[in-house]
Amino acid sequence: MSLPTKIKIVEVGPRDGLQNEATVIPTPVKLQLIEMLGEAGLSVIESTAFVSPKWVPQMADQSEIMHGILRRTGVAYPALVPNQKGFEAAMAANCEEIAIFTAASETFCQKNINCSIEESFARFEPIIEAALERGIKVRGYVSCVLGCPYEGDIKPAIVAEIATRLHQLGCYEISLGDTIGVGTPLAARKMIDAAGRNVPIKKLAVHFHDTFGQALANIYAVMEQGVATIDSSVGGLGGCPYAKGASGNVATEDVVYMLHGMGRDTGIDLDRLIDAAIFICEYLKRTPSSKVARALMAKRIAVPA
Ligand code: HMG
Ligand code: MG
Repeated sequence: MSLPTKIKIVEVGPRDGLQNEATVIPTPVKLQLIEMLGEAGLSVIESTAFVSPKWVPQMADQSEIMHGILRRTGVAYPALVPNQKGFEAAMAANCEEIAIFTAASETFCQKNINCSIEESFARFEPIIEAALERGIKVRGYVSCVLGCPYEGDIKPAIVAEIATRLHQLGCYEISLGDTIGVGTPLAARKMIDAAGRNVPIKKLAVHFHDTFGQALANIYAVMEQGVATIDSSVGGLGGCPYAKGASGNVATEDVVYMLHGMGRDTGIDLDRLIDAAIFICEYLKRTPSSKVARALMAKRIAVPA
């Protein structure tokens, strides 16, 4: 199959990128980051999570974030929702798109949302139904699609089964998460082959953490299968509090640089994206982990504007 001509990037930095940070980031800083990502041309910016503040303190300002976003026309600002309480809070905060999340590993599901995979579906079915009735789009996440920190290898058939159920329930897109970043290109392809048997490939997204440095190679490998939606995080930030040792998501700037090099128009201004990466990384007192950000930052120092 030839590579897709149009690629959608789902920016998860304000949510996945920041959820694991130890020191609480002030709401205005998060809002400024979301604004800068919008300015850079991102059309989907996952902005927060309506999860329990006891479980993920960093997301405790979810309602302030949703109310504070200066919403741009044509940009979606989805938020994670783990249960009915989270759904009600998301609706009260005028959330227009939600993402529900389960896993292909029983143990991870328990550790992450305190229920079995089956129980997660029992939680999500009425939420999806209520959301669709209100015209709210629902994205579905499957975690641990290429390995679990507790159970090790995960069979592609399990991923396929969970993805199919989410699709049948009405999720418009299923994001397949390599939560701990252990996947390699051929394993990623096998997993997409399986998941794509019952779900149209156009409805599949990939969500690679980059722990072992394989994310870009994995993305290219699955693009060759027709996958056209890629999750990524500005500055390569990210990680799941319930997946120890997992590093950040693939950096948005690395993905954008690769796509532009392939002649794909992303609608994203790489320079402005780097501004956003520098902004949040300076706040966190660290250098962006991505090679593209580092290379472009070095160039800026060499040639002052
Ligand atoms: P629980 O403890 O089983 O919930 O947690 P509960 O219903 O028994 O309630 C316990 C307390 O939490 C109660 O408060 C509830 O009111 C409160 P108390 O009476 O003790 O004062 N509570 C809530 N508060 C605010 N918002 C809510 C909410 N629900 C209950 N929505 C729960 C179950 C799902 C809430 C918890 O396990 C949780 O919040 N988990 C979220 C974990 C998380 O956010 N993980 C990271 C995101 S997933 C991820 O990163 C993977 C992904 O990136 C893809 C990939 O990489 O694979 C998406
Ligand atoms: Mg993630």
